[in-house]
Amino acid sequence: MRASAIIVAAGSGTRLKLETAKAFVPLGGRPLLHYSLRAIAAVAAIGEAVVTVPLGMEVQARAEVARAGLEIPVKLIAGGAERQDSVRIALGLSSAESEIVVVHDAARPFAAPALFAACLDAAQRADGAIAAIALADTLKRTDGRTITATIARAGLWQAQTPQAFRRKMLVEAHDRALRERWAATDDAELIERCGGRVEVVASSATNLKITTPADLEIAEALVMRLFAR
Ligand code: CTP
Ligand code: MG
Repeated sequence: MRASAIIVAAGSGTRLKLETAKAFVPLGGRPLLHYSLRAIAAVAAIGEAVVTVPLGMEVQARAEVARAGLEIPVKLIAGGAERQDSVRIALGLSSAESEIVVVHDAARPFAAPALFAACLDAAQRADGAIAAIALADTLKRTDGRTITATIARAGLWQAQTPQAFRRKMLVEAHDRALRERWAATDDAELIERCGGRVEVVASSATNLKITTPADLEIAEALVMRLFAR
C-alpha cells in the first residue's frame, strides 16, 4: 500500500490565546508540528506528506520539516479559511497514485505511529477508518443552564485524528462538499454523507487535542513521559 499523509497545521489557534499560530507553539521545547512530522516519519506505508501552514509560515515550516529528518517528500501549502478548506487544498497536492490518504491534525501531537498504521490498515478493509475513543462521561443536553436531557452513551465515540480514507472517495467527498456547501468538522462526516463505511480504531485519551491553554498544560506534563529523551 502507498499512502499520503496530510497534516493540517494552518489554524491560528484562537482558543489557545497565544500570539503564535498553534502548530508553532512550543511543547517540550519543540513546535507542535514537530511531533506529527516525527510520527508519520515512522510509518512505513506513508510515502509522502502534504502539510498546510498559515500564510507566511512556510519558511519556518520548511525548517521544521528539515529538523524532523523525514525521508519522504513533504509539500507545504498555505491552508484555507476553514479546516475543511485546508484538507481539500492539501488533497489536491497529494499524489493520485496513493490508494489511501491519512489526515491528521497538528493539534494532536501524541498520535503514535502504530495508530496511523492501524487506521491505514482498517481503511483498506472499509472506505475509511478513524481514531476514536468510546465515551466515558455521561452526556447532558442543556438549555445553557438547566439539563433538558441525558443522552445514553452506549455506542457513542469521540472522533480523533488520524483519519484514513480511500483517496478517490475523499476527493469525491470534498468536491461534493464544495458544490453542495457542506460544512463538516471532520473528514469522516463527509465520507459518511456520501454513503461510505467508516470504521473506528480504538485509540487512547493520550491522543489529546490541544485546543485550550489547559490542554497545553496537560500536554506539557505528558510530553516528558511520552518522549523521554
Ligand atoms: N486547521 C487548518 N486550517 C484551518 C483551520 C484549522 O489547517 N483553516 C488545522 C489546525 O492547524 C489544527 C486542525 O486543523 O491542526 C484542527 O483545528 P483546530 O484545533 O480548531 O485548530 P485552530 O483552528 O488553529 O484553533 P481555533 O479553532 O481555536 O482557532
Ligand atoms: Mg479551528
